Amino acid sequence: MAEWQSGYAADCKSVNAGSIPTSASRKKMNILLTGCAGFIGYHLAKGLLRNNKVYGLDNLNDYYEVKLKKDRLLELQKLDNFSFFNADIKNTISCYEDINFDFAINLAAQAGVRLSFDSNHRYLDSNIIGFHNFMDYCVKKNISKVVIASSSSVYGNSCLSPFKESEKNLIPASIYASTKLYNENVSKIYAEKYEISLAALRFFTVYGSFGRPDMAYYSFCKDLYLQREFTVFNEGKMSRDMTHIDDIVSGVENVINYVKKFNFYNFEIFNLGNANPISTLDLVNKLEILTGKKALFNFQESLSESSITHADLNKSGNFLKYAPKISIEEGLKEFHDWFVGYHDI
Ligand SMILES: NC(=O)c1ccc[n+]([C@@H]2O[C@H](COP(=O)([O-])OP(=O)(O)OC[C@H]3O[C@@H](n4cnc5c(N)ncnc54)[C@H](O)[C@@H]3O)[C@@H](O)[C@H]2O)c1
Repeated sequence: MAEWQSGYAADCKSVNAGSIPTSASRKKMNILLTGCAGFIGYHLAKGLLRNNKVYGLDNLNDYYEVKLKKDRLLELQKLDNFSFFNADIKNTISCYEDINFDFAINLAAQAGVRLSFDSNHRYLDSNIIGFHNFMDYCVKKNISKVVIASSSSVYGNSCLSPFKESEKNLIPASIYASTKLYNENVSKIYAEKYEISLAALRFFTVYGSFGRPDMAYYSFCKDLYLQREFTVFNEGKMSRDMTHIDDIVSGVENVINYVKKFNFYNFEIFNLGNANPISTLDLVNKLEILTGKKALFNFQESLSESSITHADLNKSGNFLKYAPKISIEEGLKEFHDWFVGYHDI
């Protein structure tokens, strides 16, 4: 049974995820995973735990329902080799002091582009100060293989679609996107200075079971069942390159294998998307079919969002053999099946 401890940075105690090492367990990597109670973190932890020990960290903040984060953790707790600390990366990270990590992954962040300006401190705390604390922890613990979460939002509105990693004209359209671009730039500086092999991943609208309630596909589904009017921005013409979580998890696993190959400075940015954007109206239409309900639209303008996201996957295909497999129909069905079960509909 995995351990589930809580405590903040100041009183973190190290946790041993495994029992006495055997020849089989010696091959497992010790992986630090921040944001493990989040949507991507939960699924990634499950995938990684098949062959590794995962040392999770999350502050279980209330950006969306804390119960969902706790439910994800309860699932992870059932698995061997999972440890957890409730800690906030806005403070110096001081847990897992006696663990030798082979790899670190930073997913902890304030996600979402639509928080009000009154909440900007959330981005600063987690995505700027917290991000530096994560990188400093990697340096302190001599972790030389690192993956960090960036976002497709760094492409903003001025890039030609499909978006290539080599694009130079990056003008983020939100505070969130700016922090993600900052993370990419800063992580490159750390990697170069401390001889780290590091990859920054630009995720494109990830969706699936145990997903984020603040994201459109989830809130639309909820509003359809409740027969509530819901807000659709820019006449529903915005398109998103929706990528199923299972494709993301196998993509990140390939990234880990790629990053592991370098015992010296290496820095790469990879798109992990689906290369198949869907418009908001098409998305709603597919959800209407799945739920058997009609949508009640409330159209509004939004200035802080890109009109389209569309991943060019040539680089991640060549370097990582990344090839998303799950169609939007299959993926939405998987999400919807989970949604009706989880919400007891
Ligand atoms: N889901 C997507 O479509 C998407 C797209 C692009 C980028 N991303 C990035 O991927 C990462 C994971 O996203 P997600 O969708 O799983 O989001 P999420 O909000 O579900 O997960 C983030 C987790 O980090 C934790 N966290 C936040 N601030 C923290 C802090 N200061 N200290 C400790 N824990 C903290 C949260 O409690 C949460 O559980 C994020 O960095 C996000 O910006 C996600």
